Amino acid sequence: MAEMVRTKNVGLRGITVADTKISFIDGEKGVLIYRGYRIEELAANSSYLETAYLLLIGRLPSKSALREFEQEITAARELPDYVYESYKTWPRDADPMDVMQASVPLFAMSDPDISGESREANQRMAIRLIARLPIAMAAWHRIRQGLEPLKSDEELSHAANFLWLLHGKKPDEDVARDLDVCLILHADHTFNASTFACREVVSTRAHMYAGVGAGVGALSGSLHGGANARVMRMLLNLESEKDLPAWVRRQMDSGQRIMGMGHAVYKTMDPRARVLKEMAYRIGEKTGQEKWPKMTTLIEKTATDEFEKRGKTDIKPNVDFYSASVYHMMGIPMDLMTPIFAISRIAGWCAHIIEEKFAEAQEKPALYRPKAEYVGNYCGLLGCSYEPPAERG
Ligand SMILES: CC(C)(COP(=O)(O)OP(=O)(O)OC[C@H]1O[C@@H](n2cnc3c(N)ncnc32)[C@H](O)[C@@H]1OP(=O)(O)O)[C@@H](O)C(=O)NCCC(=O)NCCS
Repeated sequence: MAEMVRTKNVGLRGITVADTKISFIDGEKGVLIYRGYRIEELAANSSYLETAYLLLIGRLPSKSALREFEQEITAARELPDYVYESYKTWPRDADPMDVMQASVPLFAMSDPDISGESREANQRMAIRLIARLPIAMAAWHRIRQGLEPLKSDEELSHAANFLWLLHGKKPDEDVARDLDVCLILHADHTFNASTFACREVVSTRAHMYAGVGAGVGALSGSLHGGANARVMRMLLNLESEKDLPAWVRRQMDSGQRIMGMGHAVYKTMDPRARVLKEMAYRIGEKTGQEKWPKMTTLIEKTATDEFEKRGKTDIKPNVDFYSASVYHMMGIPMDLMTPIFAISRIAGWCAHIIEEKFAEAQEKPALYRPKAEYVGNYCGLLGCSYEPPAERG
C-alpha cells in the first residue's frame, strides 16, 4: 500500500518546493555543501567574501575577480547620512534585530539599482547589503551607548573591520579569522525559514530589499537565528549552577526545550557545530574561558543521554550551540549574536533571491501560492447571513 505523506500543518517538513543550485544538506550524514564545496573545506581554506562570491556568482573567483569583489565591498562600506541621523532618534533599548530589519528599507530608499531588473543590478544591491549590514549593526551599537560611529578601515578584512567598528580597537588577527570562519559557516543553509521567506517575497517580483527585510524578521525567531543568544542566556544563568545534569533533566521533564539542540533537517551533529565546538575550545584555552565550552559539552552530553532515554536519538547540537560561547569569548554582546548570523546569512539570502528572481534553477519564475484547507465557520456557498450588531446575541 502506498505510504500516506502528511503535507498539512507540518511546516512544509519533507516537502520539496523548488530546485536550487546553491546549497545541499544531507541531514542523516551531517553534510553541508555550498555550490559543490563542503563547508569544512571552505571553513579551512576560504574567506567569507570569497564564499559570498561563490554563493552569489556560482563558482569560486579567480584571484583578480576576488580582488575586484573585495574592492567593491570595501567601497560600499558606508551608510547614507540619513541612516545615522535616524538611528540617533531611535529608542536605545531597541532590539538590534528590529534595528536591522528597519534599516533594510532605509537602505532601499537610496539604492540607485532599486528598480533594476537585471542580474547585475541585483548583484550590486547584494554587494551593498553584504557591506552595510555589519556597519549598520556596529554603528547602532555605538549610538546606543552614546558614542559616535567609527569609520571603516579599508585595510581591514570584512570580519576585522566589523570588530574594529564595534569595539573601537583593531582586533587580534586570530579573532578576526575565527569570526570570518563563523561567517562562512552561517552563510547559507538551503530552504531554511528565513531564506524561504526571502524567496517567497521576491517571487511576487518585490525587490531584493523587501525579501531581505522578511528574511531578517524570520531569522529573529527563537526557533531560528534567535537561538544563539538564548543559548548564551542559558549559559550565563547556569554559571553558578552546581548540578548541570539535574538542571537539564528538570528542563526536559517540564517540557522545555534545550536551546541549541535539535534541527529540522540534521539527524546527527550539525557539521557547522563540529567546527564551532573545536573553535570554542581553542578560544577558551587561549583566553582562559574554557568554562563556557565545557558547560556546553556537559549540557550536550546530559541532554543527548536524556533524549535517547526518551526515544529521541536524533536531537544533536546545532550551529547555535557552540557559536554562543565563541561570540561571547570574542566580546560580542548577547543581543548582537543573532544580528551576526544575519550579517553572514545575507550572502545566502541574496544568492537565493537572485536564483528565485531569475529562475536559475527552474524553467521560469513562479509566484509562491500554496493552498490551505478551510476549517472555519461555514454556512454553505451562499455564505452566512449578516446580522446587524444590535441583533447579534
Ligand atoms: C530546531 C527545532 C525547532 C527543530 O525541531 P523539529 O525537528 O522540527 O522537531 P519539533 O520541533 O517538532 O520537535 C520534535 C520533538 O523533539 C523535541 N525537541 C526538539 N528539539 C528539542 C530541544 N532542543 N529540546 C527539547 N526537546 C526538543 C520536541 O519537543 C518534540 O517533542 P514531542 O514530539 O514530544 O512534542 C527544535 O529542535 C528546537 O526547538 N530546538 C531548539 C531551538 C534551536 O536551537 N533552534 C536553532 C535551530 S538551528
